[in-house]
Amino acid sequence: MLAEGRRGDPRAAGHRRQGERGRAFLVDDPQREVDDHVRRQADAGGNVVDTAINYRGGASEEYLGELLTGRRERFVLASKYTVTRDGADPNAAGNHRKNLTGSLETSLRRLRTDHLDVYWVHLWDRHTPIEETMRALDDAVTAGKVLYIGISDAPAWVVSRANTLAEWRGWTPFAGLQVPYSLLNRDIERELLPMAEAFGLTVAAWSPLGGGVLSGKYTRPGGPGSGTRHAPDSISEHDLSVARAVQQVAGDLGVTASQVALAWTRVRSRAVHPIIGARNLDQLTDDLGALEVTLSPEAVARLEDATAFPAGFPADFIAQTSPWVFGEVSQRVDGRY
Ligand SMILES: NC(=O)c1ccc[n+]([C@@H]2O[C@H](COP(=O)([O-])OP(=O)(O)OC[C@H]3O[C@@H](n4cnc5c(N)ncnc54)[C@H](OP(=O)(O)O)[C@@H]3O)[C@@H](O)[C@H]2O)c1
Repeated sequence: MLAEGRRGDPRAAGHRRQGERGRAFLVDDPQREVDDHVRRQADAGGNVVDTAINYRGGASEEYLGELLTGRRERFVLASKYTVTRDGADPNAAGNHRKNLTGSLETSLRRLRTDHLDVYWVHLWDRHTPIEETMRALDDAVTAGKVLYIGISDAPAWVVSRANTLAEWRGWTPFAGLQVPYSLLNRDIERELLPMAEAFGLTVAAWSPLGGGVLSGKYTRPGGPGSGTRHAPDSISEHDLSVARAVQQVAGDLGVTASQVALAWTRVRSRAVHPIIGARNLDQLTDDLGALEVTLSPEAVARLEDATAFPAGFPADFIAQTSPWVFGEVSQRVDGRY
């Protein structure tokens, strides 16, 4: 799923929240919770695990390292760097060679492995020349410490430039893009998704439920209960109306709102795979059910109408001016290049 020549399963799971300490809504034993979570994911055929150097201050990687001991090779193990390892040290953050090297060694040690299957640049840092990042990542691949590389949370022009440089200089290109994508946030349809498709990048969609808003818990009678990620009164009327549309489609199909919202992320592009952010096993089981949900064109139209998402310039302008540009043959040209 994530990269050419290697197979992952769409049942990717994120591990930002599992293993969280000191939150009332989690079980007492975070290690066991992560264990159950990964086991349930694996039982369903999932094999992709996504973490980061900063998730839970490093505890996420440590739990996973213990958990995967003895079965590491069965999983497509991904981690990320960029975010600071020491807020007092300017060189302990960012995408430059020094932080990449220090972060990678730290993640490998915590995860008890000698290589990562996918290493993500977590965010574009705006300071490091992309040439330096690509060359340093290529060295990590050549050293066998990383198999594939990806980039998260970056402008399309940065990723395009990075992969074009890599192509021309014989360096390892990015194979994956990690970005937010849901019915509440369709921004990637403007530039990032077309770019990813043109470069053949896999798109790992984070917050596919908008942090839980699309699960329907905020719009159902009685509200979400306690311990949820969002305060109910912090959610905008627009987002609540999209959540209601999801709930209606789910009701008509006899499935859950989370399953409809997750299934939608895979409708527009075969490149997209949602990262499941379930907080407990019931949520995980519910979310995995999305794999069995097929949305009709009519259901997709109802969901997308609710988002009122304009593609904006330049996509709208280019589409509108096509008859003027191509004249009477405009219907016969199909947009491929
Ligand atoms: N690259 C990046 O910058 C970046 C940023 C963010 C996340 N990520 C990755 O993406 C993963 C997913 O993001 P996310 O956690 O924001 O995803 P999400 O699916 O949008 O939100 C997860 C939240 O949705 C709720 N939820 C999930 N399934 C549910 C269900 N079946 N029923 C009811 N509620 C449900 C839970 O909220 P409650 O806790 O309120 O119950 C859960 O904490 C993360 O774990 C992380 O690995 C990456």
